[in-house]
Amino acid sequence: MSERDGKVHGCQIEGDDGFEFDSLEEGTRNYSLLETTPWLVDSFGRRIKNVRISVTDRCNFRCIYCMPAEGLEWLKREQILSFEEIERLAKILVRMGIQQIRLTGGEPLVRHEIVNLIARLHRIEGLQSLSLTTNGVLLKDLARPLAEAGLTRINVSLDSLVQDKFFKFTRRDALYRVLEGLEELEKYPQISPIKINAVALRGFTESEVAGFARLARRKPYIVRFIEFMPLDAAQIWEREELLTGDELRELIEREVMPLVPIPRDDPADTATRYRFADGLGEMGFINPVSHPFCSTCDRIRLTAEGALRTCLFAHHETNLKTVLRSNSSDEVVAETIRRAVWKKEMKHHINDGAAFKRTTKTMSQIGG
Ligand code: 5AD
Ligand code: SF4
Repeated sequence: MSERDGKVHGCQIEGDDGFEFDSLEEGTRNYSLLETTPWLVDSFGRRIKNVRISVTDRCNFRCIYCMPAEGLEWLKREQILSFEEIERLAKILVRMGIQQIRLTGGEPLVRHEIVNLIARLHRIEGLQSLSLTTNGVLLKDLARPLAEAGLTRINVSLDSLVQDKFFKFTRRDALYRVLEGLEELEKYPQISPIKINAVALRGFTESEVAGFARLARRKPYIVRFIEFMPLDAAQIWEREELLTGDELRELIEREVMPLVPIPRDDPADTATRYRFADGLGEMGFINPVSHPFCSTCDRIRLTAEGALRTCLFAHHETNLKTVLRSNSSDEVVAETIRRAVWKKEMKHHINDGAAFKRTTKTMSQIGG
């Protein structure tokens, strides 16, 4: 299998039932796969098991690597999918072999009655994991209802443990509320693990690593650093300015303690995992720019507007909302999804110089 080299050639993926196929050489697509596999697969042989569903484009934060200070023009209520539409799509997707659903935004917890949606999705037979990515600011009140509704995993975005720096990242004075939300979460072991995601920005994050490492040792949190990707409204991202996961790992080894790699049990895991040498605590590095993991990508995304995106950096979306709202049968919806997924992009082109064209959307509009 081609390892994390951003290429999708010679990629071999085995389905749960032992169903196995090879993809073709880089840049070519295997047309026969579409007809011969029961799973949701793309033409490079990647089986899709994971969908991220954005439930709103709105957010109560204004992170500098995502939104402008004044916010964006929000979608109107009738433009976003209803819970009934999301549930219907989720059921269709699970029937097509999707195993994991992650709800995202914007900030998913600002969507009215979100707990209700989680309870509905939790009841879908065959779904193995239901998770949520949140900025954590509403967690203190919502942790309990989320746990009771059947949430099983959570990612909390937290970029700084220092109050004024947290403000610089998010443009909100909310560090303590997020930390309180995390503490509240610890009371509900049915939601585990608790993952913390910190976007790494050069000049900001270097001084945070020791604090985050201590947190990962003191608390049952898995802290992961994410490389900054060119999905920010302000377009401040620059390739030369990238603070890589390797740099941060070296910093931790120098300032805190050596790290020991944890073998990857799921090839589609986006994080490279490490434990501390004395075994206490775990940290991860998500390095989509310096070590792309496109070759093992098993994800698709559904925007709040009901568009299917097969890559974060896609320039094309498939409008499922119109299909859903035109009295189409489940079979027609499924076939639309199957054909869109089959055309999933081979890889992102961030490292390809001028060949890389940014998408016009921010992370909040796509769904993280
Ligand atoms: N680069 C990397 N990660 C980002 N996120 C938002 N914007 C970016 C970006 N430009 C992260 C958030 C959150 C997840 C949804 O995506 O911090 O953890
Ligand atoms: Fe909101 Fe997440 Fe974007 Fe921050 S990164 S502004 S929390 S959607």
